[in-house]
Amino acid sequence: MATRIGILTSGGDCPGLNAVIRGVAKAAYEIIDDVEIIGIIDGYRGLIEGEYKLMKKSDFSGILTLGGTILGTSRQPFKLMQVIGEDNVDKVKAMKENYKKMKLDCLLILGGNGTHKTAALLAEEGLNVIGLPKTIDNDLYGSDVTFGFHSALDIATEAIDRLHTTAASHGRCMVVELMGNKTGWLTLYAGVAGGADVILLPEIPFDMKKVVKAVKKRAENGKAFSIIAVAEGAMEKSEPKKRKERLAARTAEGYANISSKIAAAVTAAGCECRVVIPGHTQRGGAPSAYDRVLSTQFGAYAASLIKKKEFGVTVAKVGNTITQNKLSDIAGKAKLVAPDDQMILVAKDMGVSFGDE
Ligand code: F6P
Repeated sequence: MATRIGILTSGGDCPGLNAVIRGVAKAAYEIIDDVEIIGIIDGYRGLIEGEYKLMKKSDFSGILTLGGTILGTSRQPFKLMQVIGEDNVDKVKAMKENYKKMKLDCLLILGGNGTHKTAALLAEEGLNVIGLPKTIDNDLYGSDVTFGFHSALDIATEAIDRLHTTAASHGRCMVVELMGNKTGWLTLYAGVAGGADVILLPEIPFDMKKVVKAVKKRAENGKAFSIIAVAEGAMEKSEPKKRKERLAARTAEGYANISSKIAAAVTAAGCECRVVIPGHTQRGGAPSAYDRVLSTQFGAYAASLIKKKEFGVTVAKVGNTITQNKLSDIAGKAKLVAPDDQMILVAKDMGVSFGDE
């Protein structure tokens, strides 16, 4: 009897999803005798609604470099998974039933933190689940790196590089707002790679006066331009910690986001300023070489777990080794930037301001 493998991609897309799907499929066809792969459409939505298709071997060719996900994705918040809404659908029950209906031997779930919470729940409910760590935010607990992060990092770094030349020509301050609501890994690494002068992260609430001071100090030292890299979830020390309250307070003050608030403060101090938000370009396009390799390693490792029938785990990279963690050990936790992370200390030694001291 064939081993039937279900695959779904869930949450925000990122470069590398297709490379992982390909890695799983190619390795599974190679190392397991008889394999059938079922692609579930639009993440958990397809699992709940029973929308899926039997994939052909050829579906996995030519997708190593393709951005996005060939299976489609959707956001299905974990907090609503066990809530029966107006449609009267018991989502967990429906997912279990469809798993059975598809006659799956296992389900591979590619996603970030929210996705992994639901994956852990399905594993608890008795499904044979393997997670794969996806997110440009790089905040999945238990893995040093997630696929998608390095591609986004390359895009964000190039954005900063391009801003550098125009900022220098005009003697302006550029505020570049990068993705990352809860964590600042992307902003920290892109900021260091792009030589930003100020880096602001959700994990280190900042003092606006210190940010302005850093820009003015550069001007006094003959540097007429500055680059401020700010994560979308960064906040002032004085702002509410709760996201909803913070955004409401900003809206009331007339600011659409943190970058426009920073730009207003810098402009008020006499430095011409522009805001740049690369947004979803950070999640678009082909995976970087690093992510192609990592995704292939992750995919092949997942296939080896299927062969060994090891379920209830998620694939991870720790040091230089691809390994796995129990879903129950990592679900619901996040890997945040510690204020004394070695990269922060290096940046501080380079004279970068985090707006905190
Ligand atoms: O989790 C990945 C991410 O890109 C975050 O960095 C960002 O805050 C969020 O997704 C944006 O989500 P959406 O694509 O649903 O607007």
